Amino acid sequence: MLHFRPVYVPERSLDLSLHWGLGIMATVLIFLLFASGLMLKFTYEPSLSSAHDSVNYLIDTVPFGQLLRNLHRWSANGLLMVVFLHFLRVFYTGAFIAPRQVNWIVGLVLFAAVVLSNFTGYLLPWDQLAYWAVTISTSMLDYIPVAGPGLREWILGGTEPGPKTLVNFYAIHTALLPALLLFFVPFHFWRIRKAKGLVIKTTPGAEPAASGDMVEAMPHLFMREAAIALVTLAAVLLVSMLYNAPLGELANPGLSPNPTKAPWYFMGIQEMLIHFHPVFALLVIPGLLVLGLLSIPYINYEATAPGVWFHSVKGRKMVLTAAVFAAVATAGMVWLDDHLAAGYQAGPAGLVRNGLLPFAILLAVSAVFYLALRKIFKANNYEMVQAMFTLIVTSFVVLTVIGVWFRGAGMQLGWAA
Ligand code: HEM
Ligand code: HEM
Repeated sequence: MLHFRPVYVPERSLDLSLHWGLGIMATVLIFLLFASGLMLKFTYEPSLSSAHDSVNYLIDTVPFGQLLRNLHRWSANGLLMVVFLHFLRVFYTGAFIAPRQVNWIVGLVLFAAVVLSNFTGYLLPWDQLAYWAVTISTSMLDYIPVAGPGLREWILGGTEPGPKTLVNFYAIHTALLPALLLFFVPFHFWRIRKAKGLVIKTTPGAEPAASGDMVEAMPHLFMREAAIALVTLAAVLLVSMLYNAPLGELANPGLSPNPTKAPWYFMGIQEMLIHFHPVFALLVIPGLLVLGLLSIPYINYEATAPGVWFHSVKGRKMVLTAAVFAAVATAGMVWLDDHLAAGYQAGPAGLVRNGLLPFAILLAVSAVFYLALRKIFKANNYEMVQAMFTLIVTSFVVLTVIGVWFRGAGMQLGWAA
């Protein structure tokens, strides 16, 4: 441990109310996924004729097979949530500012690897849920002009999910992405060391906190990490003992469920597709968001406050305002669009009516909000970026919630059974 981790750490960086142990929880879940994933490989068979049977065999015949599958499945879902919360904590404590900007980018790569691991794993049991979720998710690619259909065929190894898709996803899931994680997680840790540890928590308006006294990592850091690891393991084990991972009927390409939904972490995008032309829902908006996320650490801020939750007292109020505004406006716009707009229009007219026009409305609403907030709060750059980030993240969460829980048969608004 001491070769890989620091021997001494700043005592003040051990404060749980700064990092909430989320990074360690994510690391523990990745360990658990590797351990359970390697065990699953002993029974899982990546072929159309036996994938579903092999999962059934695992559940019915292998001692603790069901528990093993549950552990893998619930850790995977838990990891998504924990990484998302870790990403929020890093952002809202200003921990992406130099010298940590590279680690923010590494974090984004890790985030993508975790989402893709979940997505590729989801197909492997080859049940109805998996088959149709992957069909709907990859069919979204078709809408991307020029490269879309080719990209979809390349990923699927054919025009629809089939034997090659399973082999592709299996290789990506159990070799490529694990290799990526094995490289980038230690790299992430190394960058933390290079930055001389975590940001130190301090209060709004105070001078940036000094690191203070150093203490030995053993026992001070490692005991805390061990405690967080045990709590995480206990939580996943408990959930795995109480709830079985769902397994539907064998995939049937001729019978699509209604509604056909993507996995929950893609439902925000699927919901966006209901309201925007695919070029905007899949290319323009996500493209701009990724560019925005990558550039966050490189914006020129006139004031920064690493270690202060929400930057300042004013920042805190602005984040709350943005979150409430985004939640109400997003839900309102979804409802309005569902009731007023009459479906898609084909061709270039559709691109204007379902794409450019709603996108322009979105930009206009955001711009008015931005200017009003800047004026009312007399905010600095940093506080504005924080508020706009909150606006976007909240909207995305609301879209996801609507997609998962409020879209029933035919993707109509209502309570999803
Ligand atoms: C971040 C890491 C990982 C994530 C998020 C993840 C996620 C998932 C998910 C969501 C499933 C579908 C589970 C189900 O429906 O039962 C799955 C299945 C599977 N995973 Fe992983 N996994 C990860 C790492 C690994 C690793 C490292 C291996 C092995 C080297 C592995 C091997 C498998 C196998 C063999 C299955 C099919 C068995 C089954 O579906 O029950 N996974 N994974
Ligand atoms: C597989 C996913 C990830 C793992 C295993 C991981 C692990 C960790 C750990 C253990 C820490 C130190 C303790 C803590 O802050 O809780 C940390 C810090 C950090 N992480 Fe992550 N992380 C992941 C994803 C991300 C993401 C998505 C981002 C942001 C885009 C990110 C950015 C950072 C930064 C900037 C720090 C330094 C924070 C500071 O100095 O206070 N990480 N990460």
